[in-house]
Amino acid sequence: MDIRALSYIVAESTAPHDWSAFGEQVIGLAATALPHGGVALKADERLGRIFVEPGPQDRYHASGWELANEAAFEQALTQLAAAGTAFTRASREEAARRGVLGLARFQDPAGNRHELTWGYCSDFNRFQSPAGVPRFVTGAMGMGHTVLPAPNFDETCAFFTNVLGFGLADLMIHRPGGPGGPEMRIHFMHVGNARHHSLALFEGEVPSGCVHIMFEYESMDELGRALDRAIATKARLTATLGRHVNDGVTSFYCATPGGFSIELGWGGRQMDWSTHTVFESTSVSLWGHDFSLGFKNAT
Ligand SMILES: [Fe+2]
Repeated sequence: MDIRALSYIVAESTAPHDWSAFGEQVIGLAATALPHGGVALKADERLGRIFVEPGPQDRYHASGWELANEAAFEQALTQLAAAGTAFTRASREEAARRGVLGLARFQDPAGNRHELTWGYCSDFNRFQSPAGVPRFVTGAMGMGHTVLPAPNFDETCAFFTNVLGFGLADLMIHRPGGPGGPEMRIHFMHVGNARHHSLALFEGEVPSGCVHIMFEYESMDELGRALDRAIATKARLTATLGRHVNDGVTSFYCATPGGFSIELGWGGRQMDWSTHTVFESTSVSLWGHDFSLGFKNAT
């Protein structure tokens, strides 16, 4: 399966306006109210990179994965069927809500919801950030990344690798009780672009449905301005500024209205997968990233 990128994520919200305010004032996205009551948060020429659906809970809903064209989409659905994974095709109206030309839904073995899409529909109006962010690192690199729970870790990793065609970039083994104690693995996985990871799977339960999502700015100053905005709007910081060992991203974390964190970063490595060797890192970060502020496992 030739998944190109993480296209978008979907959050369920009891108060979509909270996401509009957070998206505009902290991240620097542009919010558009959608006719059915949802919100699209725009980062580039696409309709949205975060979609907010009204609902009874504040949580993560789904991850949207992009295929290049209809033929790749149909082939992907054939591969899902061959693997015994049930899927449903969305209506044209449902696909239009995500700004895509075709959409199907399925769940991974851990119960995380996913949307496979092909194509996009855009008016190509210039992205205008209410916070003055010139641009986000998206395009072929996709929206950013998402970190999802996978308590049934081996089965879920095998599904992403063998059925969806994801590749392992590197891994960490979290030992919350210290050496010799229980282990929780984190696998960082890439799709068909140069972003170090579009998905990480975490071997644990996460009630909100997501550990964190990540957006990337194009300069250190834009990251610094985002941190200024997070502090000015009294957003709840969940990790201090730091730099990750594996993807090289300098970032901080704060809580979203969805009950999960967002990592706002800059400077992600662009990978050449033909020369990459998988490794295990025993440290999350070169410096910083004090997660004692919030989620302990928000790598
Ligand atoms: Fe991250």
